Order: sequence, then C-alpha cells, then structure tokens
Amino acid sequence: MFPYERLSVRRGPESGLPIIVAIHSTARGPAIGGCRLASYPDWRDGLADALRLSAAMTDKCALAGLPHGGGKTVVVAPPDLSPAGRVAAMHDVGTTIDELGGAYATGPDVGTGPSDMLLIGERTDHVFCRPESAGGSGDSSPATAAGTVAALRALCEFRFGSPDLSRRSFAILGLGRVGAQIARLLPGSHLVVSDIDESKRSLIPGAEWTSPEKCLQADVDVLVPAALGGVLTPAAVPALRCTAVAGPANNQLDAPATAKLLHDRGILWAPDAVVSAGGIIHATAVELRHVPPAEALTLVEAIGDTLGALLRAAAKDGIPPAEVAHRTAANS
Ligand code: PHE
Repeated sequence: MFPYERLSVRRGPESGLPIIVAIHSTARGPAIGGCRLASYPDWRDGLADALRLSAAMTDKCALAGLPHGGGKTVVVAPPDLSPAGRVAAMHDVGTTIDELGGAYATGPDVGTGPSDMLLIGERTDHVFCRPESAGGSGDSSPATAAGTVAALRALCEFRFGSPDLSRRSFAILGLGRVGAQIARLLPGSHLVVSDIDESKRSLIPGAEWTSPEKCLQADVDVLVPAALGGVLTPAAVPALRCTAVAGPANNQLDAPATAKLLHDRGILWAPDAVVSAGGIIHATAVELRHVPPAEALTLVEAIGDTLGALLRAAAKDGIPPAEVAHRTAANS
C-alpha cells in the first residue's frame, strides 16, 4: 500500500519556492509535524526529507500516546533567502495547510521558530507554537530539551545504574536551539560539544569544543545527536567510542538496519522518536487540552518512564530498542 495519505507539492504562490507538505497518517488523529526551512541541492531532496520525517512523526506521536498522526512541511529555500522572501514562504505554508482543512497542523522545526509560526498563523489556525503573546505555547525547544534530559536520566539509570547525569560524560553534536539548552541542563557533567557553525565555539563555558567529526567519535558515555539526521551510518558506527546514543535529532539512523549494527557493537541506542517528543507533548497539551504549563512539563518528563520501559523490554528479549519502538508504534 502506498504509505502516505496525502502529499502536497506546489510552487508557493507568494514566494515561488517549493512548498512540500507530507501527511503520512491521520489514523490516530489529525497529523502534526514541524515546518523545516532549509536549502537542498534539489527540491526532490526536500521531498525525500519530508517523506521520511513525516513517517517518523507518526511513530513519535504513537510512542508518546498522543491522538495524532505524522506529517511534515519542508520549504526548499535558497541559502540567501531575504526577510521578505521568508514572510512570503511562511504565508504560502499557511495557505497550503489551510487547504488541507485540519488534516494537518504544523509547528517549528529546523530553521523555523515562533515568529515564523505567527506568519503561518496569518493564513491558517492549524499551527502550534506561536509566541505566547499571540496566544500560542511559544518556543517548543525548552520542552524538547527537557524531554531529552529526562530520557538521558532513564538511559543512564538503565545502562550505568544511576540517573545522576553529573557523573557522566556527554558529546553533544549540534548547538542549535535544542542542543544548546541540553548542554546548559547538564551541570557538572563532562561535556564535549560541536557545531558546524564556528561562532558557537564559546557558547557553553567549560565544555570542550571539537569538530563535528571528532564529536561523533568522542570517547564519552553518551553521544547526543542534536542536529540533523542520518549521522548513524554503517560507516560511522564502527568508529564510535561512546557507550550509548540518545538525542533529539530526528531520524538519526540512515536506514533501519543500522540499529542492528549499533546493537551488535554493544552500543545502546535510544530511539529518537521517543527521546525527541517533548515539543509535541508540550504544545498539544497546552494548546489543545489547556493543561497548565507546569503540568505539561510533568507529561514531558514521562518520556523517561517510556524510554526506561522500552529499554527494559528490549533487554529482556535481547533485541535492539529500535525494534521494540517499531513494534509498539505499529500496534498502538
Ligand atoms: N519539530 C517538532 C518535532 O519534530 C515539531 C513540532 C513541535 C510540531 C511542536 C508541533 C508542535 O517534533
């Protein structure tokens, strides 16, 4: 069966840019997933990203127990997109989403933030994370970072026998909005950090700065992928020196089979669909169910319980955690 419910690929009427919306599934409820603004060698690469990322959102919603399916928006932008071009692109995203009649709602993702959601909101109501001053739940990155830290605690308890993160070493690959906040939430831990953007070099005082290649191979307890996906490949896995991998980047594996390579090397990989759910858990709780923010944070922290149960189930059956995650998502 063709795996996508609906794809919308169009030239944005206001921006002229490729506007891609992929709805993977609405079986559990309306699809949700962020809006990525990025440059690609070809618009078809943006389409491939939207397809992969929307399917991952379906698993993410199912594993977080949310009554939603997966979708994703990709705007294929030139590297030098002007401020006016950005406004036009966000308006095009809003128009396109509005035509889908509520089957899909978007939120922030790599390359976009609350001010972009405000622009999308000028064309549709189906948008999360507008600024709090405009009635939205604001930036989703603090919740995503908090969910990741809850996951790291559960992972460390499972793997090292204690949830105390200050006793562990971490390598954070990517200091974007989420990665930088995770680094700040790990006081006392030994930290190695990196970003493709050299200007982030002194962002985290006390952390050891290194190149992304070296960061990936750092000799630490836990590698935390917090930037773009696809970093765990058959070529990268043999060179890893970490004991475990857990981070908020979406689609960290280049292909599902790479989970087995990690497992065979004895490296514990926490599925990103579980680790990265803080943003959607928080935004849907606050905006759709009017949960007070403090309570929403408790829901985000439950990611630790979800991951702990998943890791124990995988260990019991002697299989990669990714397999349990897949099975759970498919059966829920
Ligand atoms: N970037 C978020 C994710 O990948 C998407 C999102 C956040 C969607 C908040 C809706 C609300 O999970």
